[in-house]
Amino acid sequence: MRKWILVLCMVFFLSSELTQCSVSYDRKAIVINGQRRVLFSGSIHYPRSTPEMWEDLISKAKEGGLDVIETYVFWNVHEPSPGNYNFEGRYDLVRFVKTIQKAGLYAHLRIGPYICGEWNFGGFPVWLKFVPGISFRADNEPFKMAMKGFTEKIVNLMKSHNLFESQGGPIILSQIENEYGPQAKVLGASGHQYVTWAAKMAVEMDTGVPWVMCKEEDAPDPVINTCNGFYCDKFSPNKPYKPAIWTEAWSGWFSEFGGPIHQRPVQDLAFAVAKFIQKGGSFVNYYMYHGGTNFGRSAGGPFITTSYDYDAPLDEYGLIRQPKYGHLKELHRAVKLCEKALVSTDPTVTSLGGLQEAYIYSSETGDCAAFLSNYDTQSVARVMFNNMHYNLPPWSISILPDCRNVVFNTAKVGAQTSQMEMLPTNSEMYSWETYNEDLSPFDDSSSFTAFGLLEQVNVTRDASDYLWYKTSVDVGSSESFLLGGELPTLIVQSTGHALHVFINGQLSGSAFGTRQNRRFTFKGKVNFRAGTNKIALLSVAVGLPNVGGHFETWSTGILGPVALHGLDQGKLDLSWARWTYQVGLKGETMNLVSTDGSSVDWMQGSLIAQKQQPLTWHKARFNAPNGDEPLALDMSSMGKGQVWINGESLGRYWTAYATGNCNGCHYAGPFKPPKCQLGCGQPTQRWYHVPRSFLKPTENLLVLFEELGGDPTRISLARRSVSSVCADVGEIHPNIRNWEIESYGSRSQELPKPKLHLHCSPGQSISSIKFASFGTPLGTCGSFQQGPCHASTSYSVLEKKCIGRQRCSVAISNTNFGDPCPNVVKRLSVEAVCTPSQWH
Ligand code: GAL
Repeated sequence: MRKWILVLCMVFFLSSELTQCSVSYDRKAIVINGQRRVLFSGSIHYPRSTPEMWEDLISKAKEGGLDVIETYVFWNVHEPSPGNYNFEGRYDLVRFVKTIQKAGLYAHLRIGPYICGEWNFGGFPVWLKFVPGISFRADNEPFKMAMKGFTEKIVNLMKSHNLFESQGGPIILSQIENEYGPQAKVLGASGHQYVTWAAKMAVEMDTGVPWVMCKEEDAPDPVINTCNGFYCDKFSPNKPYKPAIWTEAWSGWFSEFGGPIHQRPVQDLAFAVAKFIQKGGSFVNYYMYHGGTNFGRSAGGPFITTSYDYDAPLDEYGLIRQPKYGHLKELHRAVKLCEKALVSTDPTVTSLGGLQEAYIYSSETGDCAAFLSNYDTQSVARVMFNNMHYNLPPWSISILPDCRNVVFNTAKVGAQTSQMEMLPTNSEMYSWETYNEDLSPFDDSSSFTAFGLLEQVNVTRDASDYLWYKTSVDVGSSESFLLGGELPTLIVQSTGHALHVFINGQLSGSAFGTRQNRRFTFKGKVNFRAGTNKIALLSVAVGLPNVGGHFETWSTGILGPVALHGLDQGKLDLSWARWTYQVGLKGETMNLVSTDGSSVDWMQGSLIAQKQQPLTWHKARFNAPNGDEPLALDMSSMGKGQVWINGESLGRYWTAYATGNCNGCHYAGPFKPPKCQLGCGQPTQRWYHVPRSFLKPTENLLVLFEELGGDPTRISLARRSVSSVCADVGEIHPNIRNWEIESYGSRSQELPKPKLHLHCSPGQSISSIKFASFGTPLGTCGSFQQGPCHASTSYSVLEKKCIGRQRCSVAISNTNFGDPCPNVVKRLSVEAVCTPSQWH
């Protein structure tokens, strides 16, 4: 059991820089300074927020009961071209890790350098694809050299700032590779060789802290193999002397343009985590704890949305998402109360019924903790444990840190719910101007020609999303379609991701792939005339793939065939015609997004109304709204494109409407993303986060490039705010009350009365009570209604206790409200409105 600790220590002691041996592991847990620890961790990816947000996010994570912050390291942002490094601004990894340290938390650095993560090209710089002889994530010398080079760069950077725990820093774990297991299986022996090499390469970097490989059953010693998934209770590490670590407990799921929003009920997430802990798991990382934003062209793909909200406990904007955040916080507290028992012994498992079990951790030193679980997805179970009765809701686990008292049940959400709203701001966009892209720019000096169709990324090297494919077709005046016959049809086969077709400078149609099916076909009538006709195809990438075997070899762009049908000669195959290529847009070359006034002639805004032309640049100015609430642009009046503020790209926008099945969802039963969908029939993403730090007080420059058309004058800036908070707490059912009193047993301790708690964000207070009912209210937060039984005192009691306060609590009892319906089990449901305190 202690073998690897010894080996690790020896390695560290041999190293000249690292003198301590403070992080190791054994079969139970990560051991820090000699102590086994049960650790909660959360993913916060530094480039998905701004340095100005980091401290707040990390302190909220700490407040939410986390011990560790996990981040991937994003190779492509750090090394945009070989040997040129960038660790500035959002990419300031050292500052991020130091912010974690300052908060008193640990860090888990998942270096990868393959990271998947719905990030462009899975985190690989696109130039890597063009290294001669390279084959990604394989036993391939050029790849291994590059991977080692970057890993070393990061490890040395961390070491030079003393950031590993062994040096007194916060980093207690590092990851090499990412979910290589499935790939290794396909590759067989050579996959195993690569994994063995990767592990050895990492371990030789002497960080003084353990390495992990996630989803990698054959992770070689001393690297710990870890689990990723919605549930990990069936996971066990590949050696009996390694601890059970869950590197990605998916808190929600990502979304793609055209798809719905995915949510994961917190009752199920808490259940999954409790189930992992009860089986002896000792490290859980929420992926994501804060998802954030895919700024610029960083979204992976294709078709990953700019928002990477992920239904995480901290929302895209960094605001606390309730009840998810609060419920998990209570879970963490409950598990921490069991920590000593959990790490010092193995559980005894007893059956409490067909689908019910107890896991009991009872140590020699007298610590005892128990987990009572009910796997039944339908029914409440009344179980008997240690001669006492306990009531377990469906699909739930109760935690008893002293083997007697329930301090937490995963399905009983006591935390309040908060309703977030996008509210208007007073900042108007003014001075609109437009600039039209040239729709048939044939003889540009930056263009080149070739016979045949070229793969897009080979040409653009991802310097832009856009690649023009242009050719021309001569049409004789005797063609039958010119004499009243049917127009010819153009058929274009694309391997991804979107396409706009222009005939003689006019948009003739568009077509799009999907994430599941990147290939698509455009088919449309073309309005040709006698003489030379220009065909200009604008192929648009929407995020390069981030996952899949050898995705570096996957194609993007128009690979054909491209053919015209319906000319007198029959089919005209253009696939091998002479094509002119141009990378990017004119507006990109001219740097229209820059704030230092480009020399372009923009057109005054009055023209906008007359002409909603495709491929148009728009710009406007606006002043920053007061206050510090997070901001977002409402882009619902637009089609598809990219948007910048003061030269910073907010990301790609696309008003693609979500298709899906939004027929509600129940927390009980195994979770998969399709189970809980939201937003069907609405744009997948309407709001685009504008970090406050991108703004100056006045004259901010908004620039957008619109591919399809839309009304930019209807773009508005909104602020995101907690508009109301709800709580809904039941009186304890007399029977349950008796059972729980029994469970308090001989201690004859008064059972605490249930209380309802409400709190607004800092700087806000409760300005009114929108709904209050003690009785049998119906509905859920935002749509509560009075039921058959309602205490007329409900509003006045709540108003008296809560108005003007940031937080308040009210006991659920007849003494407080008067009994509106004796012998009926009642509940108290409240919705309170939060407003900034200065408004009172
Ligand atoms: C995992 C992967 C993560 C992320 C996640 C889905 O398999 O390791 O990087 O892509 O899936 O959000």
